[in-house]
Amino acid sequence: KKSQAWSALFSEPMSDLVKRYTSSVFFDKRLWQADIAGSLAHADMLAAQGIISAKDLAAIEQGMAQITSEIASGAFEWKLDLEDVHLNIEARLTQLVGDAGKRLHTGRSRNDQVATDVRLWLRGEMDLISELLTELQKALLAVAEQHVDVILPGFTHLQVAQPVSFGHHMLAYVEMFSRDAERMAEVRRRVNRLPLGAAALAGTSYPLDRERVAKTLQMVDEQGRPQVCQNSLDAVSDRDFAIEFTAAASLCMVHISRLSEELVLWMSQNFGFIKIADRFTTGSSIMPQKKNPDVPELARGKTGRVVGHLMGLITLMKGQPLAYNKDNQEDKEPLFDTVDTLKDTLRIFAEMIGGQLNPATGKKEGGITVNAQAMEQAALKGYATATDLADYLVKKGLPFRDAHETVAHAVKAAVSHQVDLSELPLAVLQEFNPHIGKDVFDVLSLRGSLNARQVLGGTAPVQVRAQIARHQQRLA
Ligand code: ARG
Repeated sequence: KKSQAWSALFSEPMSDLVKRYTSSVFFDKRLWQADIAGSLAHADMLAAQGIISAKDLAAIEQGMAQITSEIASGAFEWKLDLEDVHLNIEARLTQLVGDAGKRLHTGRSRNDQVATDVRLWLRGEMDLISELLTELQKALLAVAEQHVDVILPGFTHLQVAQPVSFGHHMLAYVEMFSRDAERMAEVRRRVNRLPLGAAALAGTSYPLDRERVAKTLQMVDEQGRPQVCQNSLDAVSDRDFAIEFTAAASLCMVHISRLSEELVLWMSQNFGFIKIADRFTTGSSIMPQKKNPDVPELARGKTGRVVGHLMGLITLMKGQPLAYNKDNQEDKEPLFDTVDTLKDTLRIFAEMIGGQLNPATGKKEGGITVNAQAMEQAALKGYATATDLADYLVKKGLPFRDAHETVAHAVKAAVSHQVDLSELPLAVLQEFNPHIGKDVFDVLSLRGSLNARQVLGGTAPVQVRAQIARHQQRLA
């Protein structure tokens, strides 16, 4: 009797501890669909090349159909002894269809098999992530569209800087998430390449048609040309595609984290700018008045977890000589967890921001609620239009640096009188510069300040509306 899966070569069985240490089936079983798809494409090509018979192919297909339904229904028995998803499925296939099952692995190694499976699986997940990124952008866009004319204090250094449109502020995040989607699309092109045919590391002596397999698995470029890894050593050993993905996911989470931090701030009683629906908050076990922003806080925390996975994966790769090393089995848990965390986070944010579709009304309900008055009050507090006064003086002929200094004096006076710049009497303003006229009060208003920023990408409502239209078209 064989000691385990390998061969007669082994003189003693693996210890239970080593079995547990080396086996991956309890996490890599989630690759099962990709594994079966890869095997079917490989078998189809083996038959087309006359390496296995049509009868064997039919048996493999029938066995895989059976295994698919067993796994889908939960009836499949995963065995730790069989180490990983690949050996579990192959063993069951052989149990079901005999020798045909044993022929499946012709011209293949688990090394090119696992690299293919991970790529196929990740490609599918990335497509879901792209859809979720679109949903989140649409949710932010809808909030932007409803609040173009709502003014909030824009901050630098978390100090009131200049008034901005809340819609404009939301669009900043739309830009970030649109770049995340672009990055995902670019990484997908490099994920979507076929390692099968590289075998263990050196290629194989069987006359495989790798391009046929690539086409069957839809590993093709935009023109439909098959995308095949061109070096067998590289194909089985590098996980740069997973690292790249995790880097893109990390950046996306960093954007989520920045948004989270703002939501948390805006929800605090000291700001009172927004509310999120109760179902995204939790209470306190001791303080009855509390509604805590757990979801954004957790998202901020989970960002650290995803960035940690990036560090884990990139470190996993750094000392590995060519070609495949078992180290690479450690790529799975961080990658899986990155995908799960990112998907859940994007889904929850799209709903928390944009609300949930009410099938009765066909409208989204329960997204964030904006307190426009609180935002505007806060913008009035921090001399947010001081730059506008300086710009006004520049138009009257002062060099900008002098205007800057003049306004600093005016702000100092306003601070000591505890009033806004717009509340200083004209006569007082004229003491700082005699060219100041009555029209100054237009530029000192929040709305005047906003409307003045007509530059491309600026916060003037006309600009913001133009950007919203551009994004709507892009996302349609
Ligand atoms: N479970 C392994 C992994 O995830 C499959 C490849 C194992 N290959 C080998 N020669 N041990 O990487």
